[in-house]
Amino acid sequence: MKASSLSSHTQVPPVNTEERLEVQQMICSLIDKHASGQRKATALRNEYAIELIRYLNEEGMAKIFIKAFCQGLKSPLISEVREFFRTHSEITNIICAQAGDPLAFEFLYHMRQPANPIDRYFINCKAGHQIYVRLRKIIQYLPGLIRKIYYSEKRTILVDNIGSGPGHDMIGVLLENPDLRPIVHVRNIDVDENALKIGEGAAIRHTMKHNFLFVNQDFLKVDSREADLVLLIGFLCPVDLRRSRIILKKLKRFSRQDGHCLFSTVQTEMGQGDPVTDFIMRFSGWQMDYKNHEQVRNLCLESGWQPVDHFYDELGYNQMTLAKLL
Ligand SMILES: C[S@@+](CC[C@H](N)C(=O)[O-])C[C@H]1O[C@@H](n2cnc3c(N)ncnc32)[C@H](O)[C@@H]1O
Repeated sequence: MKASSLSSHTQVPPVNTEERLEVQQMICSLIDKHASGQRKATALRNEYAIELIRYLNEEGMAKIFIKAFCQGLKSPLISEVREFFRTHSEITNIICAQAGDPLAFEFLYHMRQPANPIDRYFINCKAGHQIYVRLRKIIQYLPGLIRKIYYSEKRTILVDNIGSGPGHDMIGVLLENPDLRPIVHVRNIDVDENALKIGEGAAIRHTMKHNFLFVNQDFLKVDSREADLVLLIGFLCPVDLRRSRIILKKLKRFSRQDGHCLFSTVQTEMGQGDPVTDFIMRFSGWQMDYKNHEQVRNLCLESGWQPVDHFYDELGYNQMTLAKLL
């Protein structure tokens, strides 16, 4: 993975301006006619949603999609909309087969180029773009933390990346910070063999294979090696507070007594800020459990971790919490 491959925000293909204005007016009247409630109409009136609806209109799907969005998940139109999205979008197809599949993230992380308008929508929309920003923020944040731990410990820093997917976060950290390679060893632990193979391929390509172990197992069955840093990124997004507490408690045994854990949660700001993408994700079977800052703090404390720091993507959709064992 080249650092440069992470940097481009995919653009919507250019459209003739006049034609675009005409289509936008038509879309807006469609929204006014079918979007009940100001909030829903406003949610549909952002440039990426309008671009998506413009495409759906060409396919005779716009009115159906807007109606279904207004009626919500119980709409009788949902199965028709889901089937259309599934057959016209690789990302939706992946999510419908397995919600949270890391292969969908390959698009969001800009590792794969979208080949159709719906997938372009996903990577450009506010919620999708924040996933990319989350990765970048984590890659920027971790080197400082790792250096701090190393200066006090002066030995190899062990990182356990739970539910790592391919592990683009730690691959990115070591790729962009070659000085850390001699002092860091990472275990990427995931039940998804295909995701681990992508990560292993990237580690080999960048001659960093010796920095990584790829463990294809349920994390509950993996032995602890008392890591300095435990990562849990993207794992808790669809998980309610009760089950999140159980998972964070189970993570404690992976950490050294003075170790750190960095975990992410998806915040209420996303549900409020991008309800269109939330709707598409929900009818595809990927239901986020939005949390607020206070809930995350309590979740942390109740699970036996002391929150010591936190940061966000640029819209505050994802919170990354750094914690130490209580
Ligand atoms: C939403 S993905 C996040 C992947 C990655 N951490 C990222 O930020 O892109 C959640 C990952 O957790 C993995 N996973 C789910 N349950 C697991 C378990 N019990 N043990 C290990 N991995 C698990 C899934 O296979 C998936 O790759």
